[in-house]
Amino acid sequence: MSEGLKSVEFGLEKIFEGAQDFLPILGTDYVEFYVGNAKQAAHYYKTAFGFQSDAYAGLETGLKDRASYVVKQDKIRLVLTTALNSDSPIGEHVKKHGDGVKVIALWVEDARKSFEETTKRGAKVYMEPTVTSDEFGEMVQSGIYGYGETVFVFTERKNYNGIFMPGYVKWESDYNPEPVGLKYIDHMVGNVGWNQMNVWVKWFEDVMGFVNFLSFDDTQIHTEYSALMSKVMANGNGRIKFPINEPAEGNKRSQIEEYLDFYEGEGVQHLAVSTDDIIKTVTEMKKRGVEFLSQPPQAYYDEVPHRLGKHLSHFKEDIKELHKLGIMIDADEDGYLLQIFTKPVEDRPTLFYEIIQRMGAKGFGAGNFKALFESIEREQEKRGTL
Ligand code: FE2
Repeated sequence: MSEGLKSVEFGLEKIFEGAQDFLPILGTDYVEFYVGNAKQAAHYYKTAFGFQSDAYAGLETGLKDRASYVVKQDKIRLVLTTALNSDSPIGEHVKKHGDGVKVIALWVEDARKSFEETTKRGAKVYMEPTVTSDEFGEMVQSGIYGYGETVFVFTERKNYNGIFMPGYVKWESDYNPEPVGLKYIDHMVGNVGWNQMNVWVKWFEDVMGFVNFLSFDDTQIHTEYSALMSKVMANGNGRIKFPINEPAEGNKRSQIEEYLDFYEGEGVQHLAVSTDDIIKTVTEMKKRGVEFLSQPPQAYYDEVPHRLGKHLSHFKEDIKELHKLGIMIDADEDGYLLQIFTKPVEDRPTLFYEIIQRMGAKGFGAGNFKALFESIEREQEKRGTL
């Protein structure tokens, strides 16, 4: 495909017809983080992000080497896992990368077939198909390596009725902060190294049967200082979207380079989570201590009516209120979207979150890239990493 923004004017359905159906995916099953202290991380996601206690595995359930807390909000399930001794690949992962995403688990009908189809197309094996069972039934999982040390795990749960997976017990807690309205994972972005974007685009096409439906080059994504390139890969039903970023040459160090330096490799840059009421969600998250990037300048908000174009007539939100919270607005052919980005949620400037409310738009806020990156660069400046 040629460079440049692939217009959505063809209709996404048509584009997705190009995707292969050898790997049907029902949805995102869970995202597992390897962290330094899972107990405290789970508390943070409950308190600040409104996740609910769901399941637990650790010493009390017979594990000797790790503890895992599962937290849930609507369709989003996060697993926070930590090592219980120094001789652990989990600990090694944390030592190298800091807290970060290890597993992107995809919910499939048939984990054995998913494994077979992807490995015969060149995927590197992470986990052979493995059956686990308890009194609630059995689950099958398999896995392949993706970018960096990140892995994709295929999860088949059609014969399982338990809370999460065999080996986990229900996590009952007396501390249950209210949800903040996060509903599902809209997309998950990976940062890859220099000249690696097209390698991974091809990997997603060949191994996973995904299609590249949007591309942005460095002439579109740049500021005075830095630039990046991005391509969005999607599966056959268009529900699973993995944009891939690569740094591009600029005057100063781009945020992608900063990530690669501090994560010490390729990995997940951000999780975009959807809400139906971004004003309410963000107001609540701020109250609970989540830090967001600084708001774009007044000039940005002055431009909003122009940017909305034909969608201005059904634009429901109060621009003043969006400005106050620092929420950004973008529009495409099909509608508009509202989005905002947190600061990194670890001390290393690596993974962060995007909160997104789609009002018909199917893009990723390309019109906001410049304002967003300028605001990231203000943070980089403070860190001395620009
Ligand atoms: Fe995003």
